[in-house]
Amino acid sequence: MNTAQLIDGKAVAAQVVAEVRDEVSALRAQGIEPALAVVLVGDDPASHVYVRNKVLRAEEVGIRSLEHRLPADCSAEQLLAVVEALNTDATVNGILVQLPLPAHIDENRVLQAIDPAKDVDGFHSENVGGLSQGRPVLTPCTPAGCMRLLKQTCGDLRGKHAVVIGRSNIVGKPMAALLLQADCTVTVVHSRSLNPQALCRQADIVIAAVGRPRMIDASWIKPGAVVIDVGINRIEEDGKSRLVGDVDFASVAAVASAITPVPGGVGPMTIALLMQNTLTAARQQRLNSAAAPAIAEATCLSTC
Ligand code: GUN
Repeated sequence: MNTAQLIDGKAVAAQVVAEVRDEVSALRAQGIEPALAVVLVGDDPASHVYVRNKVLRAEEVGIRSLEHRLPADCSAEQLLAVVEALNTDATVNGILVQLPLPAHIDENRVLQAIDPAKDVDGFHSENVGGLSQGRPVLTPCTPAGCMRLLKQTCGDLRGKHAVVIGRSNIVGKPMAALLLQADCTVTVVHSRSLNPQALCRQADIVIAAVGRPRMIDASWIKPGAVVIDVGINRIEEDGKSRLVGDVDFASVAAVASAITPVPGGVGPMTIALLMQNTLTAARQQRLNSAAAPAIAEATCLSTC
């Protein structure tokens, strides 16, 4: 029986983290200290765990981290005031507002308030638009992490048929844009697609991002396909609580050529890419601030 190669997200994430750590230490040697601010609203236990992991990882790579906590009943205006203060704080390079926000706060309004240059999640419409136009912008961390895993696993992605299952703003849509940028032929399968299994069976690359435990079994997969499982679902099984992906691992590993496990696949990549985005944002802001006086001078010369 075929058994797929395991794509070790933990190991690749460790490589990314080591690269970022080296580059951060080079910046620090020049007196530049990249900083990431994480804003957490309310008491959602999963969000608390995610934020703690992000802060710990930042410290590990030498990125200064700031945590802002607001109560679940805070107003949108209070949250927006925190975001605005971080936007204007020149010592902060990256801002991440942990989602989901409490239902009474308009998520989109908050995401749009973040300075696009500090938007390390890549969720601001300026960055979303830039991604779809192929401009070099801050890119959502999970899809960027999937691309790194795919490039390391497949090498050249040109001409491959990639099927993305799911069309969320956080994963499905930016994933499709990144695959298109890598010259894949891209199909997005979603809850209204007709015969999604047959579409998926045509894929050389499958990205599962639906949020349904073990929905994708071997009947969805062409033999030899590469499968990236973005899902992280907690289920109760045999009296135990466990994490499973959107892919039925045992079934799919028998037909795929390579597959990510859950946990230990895409999950560690998301935080690693957040560190990389914070470094990129810090560098870009440094370049912009160095260029700003020159531009002001040039404008003055041409207009004065
Ligand atoms: N909640 C779940 N995933 C994410 C993410 O990638 N970014 C933010 N800000 N919140 C999340």
